[in-house]
Amino acid sequence: MTARTLSPFDPNYREAFREPLLTADSLIEVGGRPQISLDGLWRFHIDPYDVHRRRAAFDPQYLELLAKPEDEALLDSRTDFPAGAWETIKVPGCWNEERPELMHYEGCALYLRDFEGLPSGPRYFLHVGAANYESTLWLNGVFIGRHEGGFTPFCIDVTPHLRARNVLAIVVDDRREADRLPALWCDWFNYGGIFRSVRLVEVPQSHIKRTFLRLLPGTGLRRLRLDVETSAAEGEQVTLTVPALHVAERAVVDGQGMASLELTAEPSLWSPDHPHLYEVEVALESGDRLEDRVGFREVRVEGDRLLLNGRPIFLRGVCAHEEFPGRGHAATEEDTRQMLETARDLACNFVRLAHYPHHENAARLADRLGILLWEEIPVYWHVDFANPAVLTGARNQLRELILRDRNRASVIIWSIANETPRTGERSSFLEELADCARQLDSTRLVSAALLPLPDDPLLPQMDVVAVNEYFGWYYGQAEQVQDLLKNLASCGKPMLVSEFGADCVAGLHGAADEIRTEEFQADFYRRQFAGILGIPSVVGTSPWVLYDFRAPFRQNKYQRGYNRKGLIGEDHQSRKMAFETVRKIYQDLAGRFGE
Ligand code: GCU
Repeated sequence: MTARTLSPFDPNYREAFREPLLTADSLIEVGGRPQISLDGLWRFHIDPYDVHRRRAAFDPQYLELLAKPEDEALLDSRTDFPAGAWETIKVPGCWNEERPELMHYEGCALYLRDFEGLPSGPRYFLHVGAANYESTLWLNGVFIGRHEGGFTPFCIDVTPHLRARNVLAIVVDDRREADRLPALWCDWFNYGGIFRSVRLVEVPQSHIKRTFLRLLPGTGLRRLRLDVETSAAEGEQVTLTVPALHVAERAVVDGQGMASLELTAEPSLWSPDHPHLYEVEVALESGDRLEDRVGFREVRVEGDRLLLNGRPIFLRGVCAHEEFPGRGHAATEEDTRQMLETARDLACNFVRLAHYPHHENAARLADRLGILLWEEIPVYWHVDFANPAVLTGARNQLRELILRDRNRASVIIWSIANETPRTGERSSFLEELADCARQLDSTRLVSAALLPLPDDPLLPQMDVVAVNEYFGWYYGQAEQVQDLLKNLASCGKPMLVSEFGADCVAGLHGAADEIRTEEFQADFYRRQFAGILGIPSVVGTSPWVLYDFRAPFRQNKYQRGYNRKGLIGEDHQSRKMAFETVRKIYQDLAGRFGE
């Protein structure tokens, strides 16, 4: 359906922008490539009635306005276009934090960014790190594509649409919808906007799209494999170079632009105690090349044990949202580093990045700092499992995440869901996602954070059985966690307690049985860990949660809009007593594992 056929009041105006949908297939690796950042101040206008997309769907003149937003000649009394009335906003950023008056705004907003012409010859890909939730894009008034998903990157070849002067227009729609991921309800704040970097990436005509370099599991820690996807012609050579391993191997591109090679090597293995990274280069004969720093390690399960490089490991973890004071999801590299270093200060060797893909920096920094990661897509609580379009969206978010981070040694677990109801639609939906993850990456473990119930039909699909439980907070006594875990242990798989925690107001003190006091939270953890660590097949724990975080449906006088289960307050500074409690338990555990 083309834009011109729609009437002004057609409720299906968004049909005009259904395709092309930007998916994982169009993703290219951008690390180390020549690029132009489009970060900075963008023209901005909230659009609560989604006027811009509706107009653009049926009004050709409007598309011209999107190409020449300041062209007075195009403006006449009828046009409601905000020319001359533009505001500006920082990209990357969340409009909720950039504009206090928009803190609780959920809806659409129009972003405009102009940039000069680019030298002809190479191809130029527009790459957006993330924008919550749906992004509809025009370049110079031409609709170029749409992306769904709030936390994963997308990109598109814009070469055909470039001019001497360019205007990029993006309508970002962050409304919670029943057919989105997450759907209508989630226990975190729905920040809106373009909150990760936007750039133009320059690549040669013949270029490398994606690489996947890893140690193959079960090969005695000595077999490396590289798969490369390119736009190159059949017969072109690809070279893998790892100078420190004296590796310089070649492969030939096939008719689908793919090339692969395997080799034997003795890499120094990556682990939290020894986060060793190798400089690697993948190059095409015609000149395109990608550089990266990659660690080689093997993670696998053996019965109910979790093995890293063949040795049992206990995941001393914590959960963390990507939310930073004054920035929301728009994490800076320093924010992410501080989060990871604070986890390490808690004596962690593992972080569960909840409940959606965090910034790409998280895995790159974790590679360097030696912290193992759980990464997750926001199939959270109730989503429309019976809706095939929702499954397609989930699969695409999972593929975008895996293609982005599969060269990161720190990432060991792909999580496909959190606390989902045990319906038939849900199980087949999640089985599809588990298959999708394994097809894309057979070197990592697949899991999902399950509700604390035995006999979940999804258990057979899980490499690691992860359970969220709140004994001693939402229900029962802390000690009861043991019964649940003993029951779950019968599945014979390694288990992870992926969430457990209790609310506590930083600075509120009292007796250990007075809920919401620091003493109560610390005691909660002592009692929980006493139960959990008594179960041999428990291979990890990740308390809920490192920092207090915004949660709109938490409004009682203690919470005041925050989930207060953090070990640290929402200022990311005020450490609660439980921080020390957990740290001592983890330091002791590390000692037991000789770390
Ligand atoms: C759930 C959920 C979290 C939530 C937590 C809580 O388990 O996974 O997102 O914040 O419980 O209730 O605090």
